[in-house]
Amino acid sequence: MQSVGIVGVGTYLPERIVTNYDLSEIIETSDVWIRSRTGIRERRIAEKDMLTANMAVEAGKRAIDNAGISPQDIGMIIVATVTPDYAFPSVSCLVQERLGVLSGTPAFDISAACTGFIYGIVTAMQYVQAGLYKYILIVGADKFSSIIDWNDRNTSVLFGDGAGAVVIGRVQKNRGILSFDLGADGTGSKHLLANPMVSMNGREVFKFAVRQIPLSTELVLKKCGLKKGDLDFLIPHQANIRIIEGARDRLGLHKDKISVTLDRFGNTSAASIPISLAFEIEQGNIKDNDIVVLVGFGAGLTWGAVCLRWGT
Ligand code: UT7
Repeated sequence: MQSVGIVGVGTYLPERIVTNYDLSEIIETSDVWIRSRTGIRERRIAEKDMLTANMAVEAGKRAIDNAGISPQDIGMIIVATVTPDYAFPSVSCLVQERLGVLSGTPAFDISAACTGFIYGIVTAMQYVQAGLYKYILIVGADKFSSIIDWNDRNTSVLFGDGAGAVVIGRVQKNRGILSFDLGADGTGSKHLLANPMVSMNGREVFKFAVRQIPLSTELVLKKCGLKKGDLDFLIPHQANIRIIEGARDRLGLHKDKISVTLDRFGNTSAASIPISLAFEIEQGNIKDNDIVVLVGFGAGLTWGAVCLRWGT
């Protein structure tokens, strides 16, 4: 079967920084509480006219440039989001038009909350592996600031806005995606939902995440004949530093082998994994031939992981 991997990455983060101190002026909270309970110091919040689609377009453009291809080379667009600008059309159709991707190119959105990007990668991978499309653009983009009750301190301190994108394409035989794990448990749907504003049972989501990240990570490694010790870098969904540290301890991973970007960006939902991936690549922390696992969890409840041998 054709080997499939990530051949380009791109991100977009709004310029406006909102610190914990800023939040402590509008709700009863403190920098000390937010930092010690979540690890978050600040987050980016998009201006009113910066819609989810705008952020997705910017990240998508950068991923296509980074892949060294042109928008006309894209065979399909998938946007993972739970904050689309309209009920319809999908964000992906807006992205198609604004990026100059050929009219006629299939485009659709995926709703799997913070796990949406992983669902998108696994979906895209099937089409490229089958030889149906050469390049697929996957964007994770969310503007949680538009669905947060800014007076609810249980949720308003956690999230930020942003977008991250990758291009999936063919890679050499011994590189690319080696295995994946996807799952959902609708019995946990009550723990994290938006109707239309976000409400959450933080403790339940926390327990689920601490359990699921190591489980999915170990499973994808096992599926391709690898062990915990073979893992070179872990990119987990960025929700809470205590969740990340819990997973790190259970996996016996060194601190330098796990991505942490939530201190600067908060939880950017579907965007958090591609944003962290792009950041770690830029820092030189992910090298050719490294075993990398991307792992996410979120509302649904949903979870997913992808194991890759890095490189093109
Ligand atoms: O993408 C997935 C999205 N969500 C998650 O991953 C969330 C997972 N859960 C979490 O990250 C944590 O559960 C939270 C950060 C949301 C909460 O942390 P916690 O340690 O579970 O705190 P808690 O909810 O048990 O609250 C502890 C105390 C409470 O006060 P009392 O009842 O002990 O007097 C809260 O009212 O902290 C209080 N509290 C706050 N205090 C200051 C809750 N939020 C705040 C706040 N500032 N922002």
